[in-house]
Amino acid sequence: MSSLNKYKTLTLDKISIHTVKSQHPWIFSKRIEKSSKEFFPGDFIRLVDADNLYLGTGIFSGSKDLISIRVFAFESELTYELIKNRLITSIEKRLPLLVYTDSFRLIHGENDLLPGINVDYHSGTIILRYYSKSLYVFSRMILRALWNLIWNNPNWNLRIENAYIQAPKRIGKNNIQFLNSFRVVRGNKHEYIKIRYRDINYLIKPDMQKGGIYNDIRNLRDYLWLHKSYVYEKNILNLFSNNGLLSKCLVNLGAKKVYSIEDSKECIDVHNLNSAKNPKEIIIKKNLFTEYEEFAKQLDFKYDLIIIDPPSLTASAKDKPKAIIIYKKLISISLGILAKDGILILCSCSNRIHTNEFENISKIAFSENEVKMKRLDRLKNEIDHPILNNFPEGDYFKVHIYKKL
Ligand SMILES: C[S@@+](CC[C@H](N)C(=O)[O-])C[C@H]1O[C@@H](n2cnc3c(N)ncnc32)[C@H](O)[C@@H]1O
Repeated sequence: MSSLNKYKTLTLDKISIHTVKSQHPWIFSKRIEKSSKEFFPGDFIRLVDADNLYLGTGIFSGSKDLISIRVFAFESELTYELIKNRLITSIEKRLPLLVYTDSFRLIHGENDLLPGINVDYHSGTIILRYYSKSLYVFSRMILRALWNLIWNNPNWNLRIENAYIQAPKRIGKNNIQFLNSFRVVRGNKHEYIKIRYRDINYLIKPDMQKGGIYNDIRNLRDYLWLHKSYVYEKNILNLFSNNGLLSKCLVNLGAKKVYSIEDSKECIDVHNLNSAKNPKEIIIKKNLFTEYEEFAKQLDFKYDLIIIDPPSLTASAKDKPKAIIIYKKLISISLGILAKDGILILCSCSNRIHTNEFENISKIAFSENEVKMKRLDRLKNEIDHPILNNFPEGDYFKVHIYKKL
């Protein structure tokens, strides 16, 4: 980064100039088709306009990738100092969370101005995931910088013992997953990490989906902590329960019984490991897209609280109509097994369905089933999942809370 004169230069077209000037970090491959042959994945590219005026610096990912350049510096030069200050800002933003948890997203990619790079902090371990192989060298540099910063700032009270890095695996054109194993960069490999959330110590498996824990839904965990009356002595259905941390919170808040349904065996194994056969926890393996209706038909009681948090249903824009049908079906079935005065919590991480649209889908499902629902709340994003105005794609997670009248 210090020898900027070695960078290659790209003259942007009008649309990409607008993109960079509005500080959006993605330049799509179709915008730079002609020039992309001159670049190699991982190249640092100085972006200029037709008058050779400097606009920013990005990293080239490859001509076949949908996103061809991720922009890391706008207007100012890309220097180590710039990145270091960004890391410090991101870390300091998260420090208030330490009061009640030691598990959070330390760097949230585009939303922390580090596109294509996520870093989680779990109780002394940092885990970096990069979304394009082209970002490997840069990611190693970020991980090293993070390690040194945390190590040299004991006043942050962030313990640091291990650092791992996890490489991307492309599934189709739009979908990125991660290689199951991660590389240990510092410290030792631990298959499980014990994290703390309020009065709970919980084992997570960091090589699983979303790094072993969905921390964007901390907002719902916190909300229920403040609304114990929705939980205390209630029968609760937690759909798409993942590793079961949310269910465990509900049990600790005094739920009568929590039924968790999840399809991934790996998630259920982690959930079982943590629930220690607590009779208040019923863990069921089911494909909720095909088996929920049958499950609901066989019930001889109603739930007081139902939480629905399916995986993202819109990997691409063409998936949207099908996603709407799936949301409506999940809501409709749930309305039939929700008690009067019961609470329905609808979550969505499909980034192509925005919050008002999600609310409309829910309203249509309510009226088609002739059920009156009152919206109680919409939750805000967590501080470790910031949202930037110039990056609307990052505003993906919705939690809407309703009461059955
Ligand atoms: C957004 S996550 C839910 C996170 C969870 N609410 C929590 O508190 O951590 C979606 C979950 O749905 C699960 N899943 C995906 N397809 C499923 C299916 N067909 N049936 C049941 N669960 C499924 C995934 O394994 C994942 O754990």
